[in-house]
Amino acid sequence: MTQPVVVAQGVNLHLKSGGAPLHILKDVGLTLAAGEVTAVVGPSGSGKTSLLMVLAGLERPSGGSISVAGESLDGLNEDKLALFRRRHLGILFQSFHLIPSLTALENVALTLEIANPARAWKEIRAEAERALADVGLDNRLGHLPSALSGGEQQRVALARAVVGKPRLLLADEPTGNLDQDTGHRIIALMFALARERDMAILLITHDPSLAARADRQLRMDQGRLSILTPEPA
Ligand SMILES: Nc1ncnc2c1ncn2[C@@H]1O[C@H](COP(=O)(O)OP(=O)(O)OP(=O)(O)O)[C@@H](O)[C@H]1O
Ligand SMILES: [Mg+2]
Repeated sequence: MTQPVVVAQGVNLHLKSGGAPLHILKDVGLTLAAGEVTAVVGPSGSGKTSLLMVLAGLERPSGGSISVAGESLDGLNEDKLALFRRRHLGILFQSFHLIPSLTALENVALTLEIANPARAWKEIRAEAERALADVGLDNRLGHLPSALSGGEQQRVALARAVVGKPRLLLADEPTGNLDQDTGHRIIALMFALARERDMAILLITHDPSLAARADRQLRMDQGRLSILTPEPA
């Protein structure tokens, strides 16, 4: 078996807001394999987004260890974490977070430019065009986000998230703002990308029919993560 993309052990997260500290993640352990889609379900406020934040190195856990693509996040400083995200991670949110003044092509190209500012624009453009073609948007390259439908905007966001060939895609309710058919099409695209590129996907969703299509389902409940399917042996 190839090395897992994510190995997290004993992860705890405490956050303070105002009064008493809150225990948000409780001894969370998680392994994500390459090419596999893992869904996380669970009630609102249970800690799903918090889990995504610690795996992305955007929130520092108060205890435990996390490694992604063989690289330990423990003790990395902000600069190293930013580099880690650029190298290994794609993130997709419910609201698409595209830059409104940039076209679809420019939104995707920007990720490549930031990753390697010295690279020739011609090369960057060709790669961004391919990424948009992969999500079926080769006929919308010059459109601003305001001129795209919600589903199209999320497809641009997906192209942007994977154009750098990340090992891990973290998606937080990526279909939450889309109608069901459009949502299912986005998910199908994500799953195909996972297989083709041997990328691990962590998909947070409230939609049981989407979660059921994942290879595995985990459930978050009051900060504790457990296995829903397949049933643990
Ligand atoms: N910055 C913060 N400071 C303090 N508490 C926070 C902070 N961010 C989140 N929380 C708390 O942590 C808990 C888990 O939040 P989280 O956003 O991870 O839930 P979630 O499972 O993603 O919920 P939803 O399904 O509604 O998105 C909540 O009780 C929330 O109030
Ligand atoms: Mg959330």
